[in-house]
Amino acid sequence: MTTANNEFQPKITTFLCNWCSYGAADLAGVSRMAYPPNIRIIRIPCSGRMSPKFILEAFRRGADGVWVSGCHPGDCHYIAGNYHARRKFTLLNDLLSYAGLEPGRLHFSWISSAEGEKFARVATEVIETVRALGPNTRFVKDRIEVA
Ligand code: FES
Repeated sequence: MTTANNEFQPKITTFLCNWCSYGAADLAGVSRMAYPPNIRIIRIPCSGRMSPKFILEAFRRGADGVWVSGCHPGDCHYIAGNYHARRKFTLLNDLLSYAGLEPGRLHFSWISSAEGEKFARVATEVIETVRALGPNTRFVKDRIEVA
């Protein structure tokens, strides 16, 4: 998708932990911090709940980028969920790079509910990184258009 000035508008599927990064997104919103509107947020109970299949499915349905964000290591509401997530993400990132996905389409971060400013900054970085890569063509089977 492009805008009137022909700038590519990437679709970023974003998975946020309910206990921290989702709160940060909320804080950024109520604090009126600006970031581009390209992210589509899916709230998850913990980053440890993320299955690599969710990420692959997002790309399969036409996401140009995927961003997963959870609590800082040591702060997980379920004690060790983000440690499990970190291991899974590292392996998945290597596997997807091996399969040809450009580095920069998949992002992980740790953002607490008090870090609205960090949320807005990381969101902008993720969007601009994916925008520079252009539309994703790897793993796409059905490109679902969202308003
Ligand atoms: Fe947030 Fe586990 S509860 S990462």
